[in-house]
Amino acid sequence: MQLLVNIDHVATLRNARGEGYPDPVEAAKVCEEAGASGIVFHLRKDRRHIQTEDVYRLKETVKGDLDFEMAATDEMLKISKDVNPELVTLVPESREELTTEGGLDMETVFDDFHNRVFPAYTDTDIAISLFIDPNEKDIELAAELGTDAIELHTGTYANASNDADKQNELKRLHDGAKLAHKLGMKVNAGHGLNLDNLQPLVETVPHLNDISIGHALVSSALFDGLDETVKKFVLIMNNAN
Ligand code: PXP
Repeated sequence: MQLLVNIDHVATLRNARGEGYPDPVEAAKVCEEAGASGIVFHLRKDRRHIQTEDVYRLKETVKGDLDFEMAATDEMLKISKDVNPELVTLVPESREELTTEGGLDMETVFDDFHNRVFPAYTDTDIAISLFIDPNEKDIELAAELGTDAIELHTGTYANASNDADKQNELKRLHDGAKLAHKLGMKVNAGHGLNLDNLQPLVETVPHLNDISIGHALVSSALFDGLDETVKKFVLIMNNAN
């Protein structure tokens, strides 16, 4: 299990003033030095946080795994192939959303991914991960597509308003991870994770590989420092390993 830090919101803060700081690439360096195993960014169609040039700078400086999160548009396929990260994570994306709101509906995207998206990567070493909710149907369709990994959407778990809902979602994530592993896919997870809800997740859900954490980590870093905050997240994950 390893922490990949999503540095999108360092860019959000930078873009609020357009002064060039804080620099997400500098933040990525600090995260890796503090023990993160890699960096995630989401290059959105509207470029609301990460910019195209950030992506190329990250590719030059990140030493661990680089996870390029993106909608499967032709533009993003082209940029991601040019950048050549270790992993692309395909997500649904709509213009109005504040953040990614749920996993891919595999039935809807299946034919397009099969005919256009997956063939685009056959001549590369880039691994593909599909961001999906922990339900059997989506996981089985992801396996049928031949994806290397899935990223289980943990947002419903993170946002559960009572313990029963939280436990119910943990069980779905547990079962989803087991099924995905059985079907030969790597299991990643992310969305809405923080210093309180990470531990129950990593102690309950088996086979976890990359855990992608952004908003809560960058927010905690304002008070405790980026280096200290990354170490706290890594410690929780190491204790469960
Ligand atoms: N994984 C995916 C697919 C995401 O879209 C996001 C948000 O960009 C994250 C993980 C990280 O979520 P958060 O910022 O809530 O930690």
